[in-house]
Amino acid sequence: MILKVCTLLLVFSAAALAGESYDGYKIYDINARNDFEKQLLLHLQNNADLDFFDLPRALNKPARVMVPPSMHVELEKILRQFHLQFELVNDDFGATLKRQQLENQSQRLIVPRDQSRGVSFTAFLRHAEINAYLDELARTYPSRVTVQVAGKSYEGRDLKTITITNGDGNANKNVIFLDAGIHAREWIAPAGALYVIQQLVENFVSNAALLKNYDWVILPVVNPDGYEYTHTNTRMWRKTRKPVTSSCYGTDGNRNFDYHWGEVGASTLSCADTYRGQSAFSEPETQIVRDLLLSLTGRGKFYLTLHSYGNYLLYPWGWTSELPSSWTDLDEVAKAGAAAIKSATGTAYTVGSSTNVLYAAAGGSDDYAFAVAKFPISITMELPAGGSGFDPTTAQIKPFVEETWLGIKAMAEKVIQKY
Ligand code: ARG
Ligand code: ZN
Repeated sequence: MILKVCTLLLVFSAAALAGESYDGYKIYDINARNDFEKQLLLHLQNNADLDFFDLPRALNKPARVMVPPSMHVELEKILRQFHLQFELVNDDFGATLKRQQLENQSQRLIVPRDQSRGVSFTAFLRHAEINAYLDELARTYPSRVTVQVAGKSYEGRDLKTITITNGDGNANKNVIFLDAGIHAREWIAPAGALYVIQQLVENFVSNAALLKNYDWVILPVVNPDGYEYTHTNTRMWRKTRKPVTSSCYGTDGNRNFDYHWGEVGASTLSCADTYRGQSAFSEPETQIVRDLLLSLTGRGKFYLTLHSYGNYLLYPWGWTSELPSSWTDLDEVAKAGAAAIKSATGTAYTVGSSTNVLYAAAGGSDDYAFAVAKFPISITMELPAGGSGFDPTTAQIKPFVEETWLGIKAMAEKVIQKY
C-alpha cells in the first residue's frame, strides 16, 4: 500500500530543483510514532522534490521536510490518510529567505568587515571574504600562522587551509584537523570554523594551552562552489557543483569518501541530495580533504567536521551499527564537548555513533579519517538549528559560534590530555 502511494507521488516529481525562489514552499514537522510511520517517511524521502532537512532514526523525534507548492496537497493527503501527526513550521519559506537575505546584506553594509583586520560574526561571509581573512591573519601573525592553497574546487576556487601554531618552530607536533562546509547550505558551520580560527589566532594568549603540544589545521570551506551557489542561486543547495548529467549537478561530499563507499544511506541517483558520486573521490573537493587527512596520518589525533543541524556529536561508524573497538575513547571526547556546552548555555547535544543516533550513511569523511587516515578521534558535530534549520538569522550567528567553540575547546582539551 505504502509503496503504491509513493510511486504515485514519484510520478508528480519530475520538475527539477534549480535556482528556485522558494516562493510558497512550506516546511512541515512530521512525527513518526511507530515503525510503520517511520517507514512511510523513509519512502517519501525517495522523492527528489521533498527535501528532508532532518529525518532522525529515533521515533518521536519529528522529521522536517521542505515541500514545493506543487506537492502540498498530495503530501497532506497522504499524511492524513495514514494518520501521521504533522505541523506546519513555515508556510512561505521564500518570503523568509528574502527577508533574511536583505538582513544579511544590511548587516554586511552596516558593519562591514573592517578594511584592515578582523572578522565579523554579524553576517554570513562570502567565500572570498573568508579567504581574505585567512590571508590577512597570515600577514599579521607570520610566526604563528601559515595559509596554503590545498587545491582548487571544480569551479576553480582556492581551498585554503590555515595552520595555526604557537610559533615555537616545532614542526612535529600532533595535529587537530578541523573542516566545515562540505554541505553548502549549512552556513553556520564555516562561521563556526572561523570563530575557532579567530580564537586560536587573535585570542592566542587565552588559548595558548591548546597550541602547546598541538598544531591546528583548519579548512573552513570544503565546498566553496556549493557555498557560493547557496548565496547566489539556490539557498538550500547541499552538494558540490560538478555536473553529473546535463540536468543533474553535484555530489554529496559526505557520501563520496572511499570507505564502504555507497554501501548504505547514499543515493545512486545523480539528482538526489545524497548522491554518492560517480565513484569514490570523484570530486576534487573530497580528494583535497583525503590528501590532507592522509598527509597527517600519525600526527593527526583529532578530526572534527562541522555540519548543521540537529545538535549531535557523532562518531564512527556511519556505515554500520557496530561500534569500533575504541568507541569509549570517542564517546569520552564527544561527551566532554556536550557537557561543556550544556553547562555553559543549557543547549543539549545528543552523543553517539552516527548510525545509531542518526542514520546509516556510508562514505562520510569521519569514517575515512578514523579508519584510513588513522585519526584516533573523529567526530562530526551538527550545530543547532537556526531559523527553520539551515537558515539561522544573523543575530543567531554569534551565540551559536561562541557556544560551539566551548564544546570544541573541551573536546580538544580532552584529546590533548589523552594523546
Ligand atoms: N548529517 C551528516 C550527513 O548526512 C551526518 C554524517 C555522519 N557521518 C556519517 N559517516 N554518516 O552527512
Ligand atoms: Zn551536513
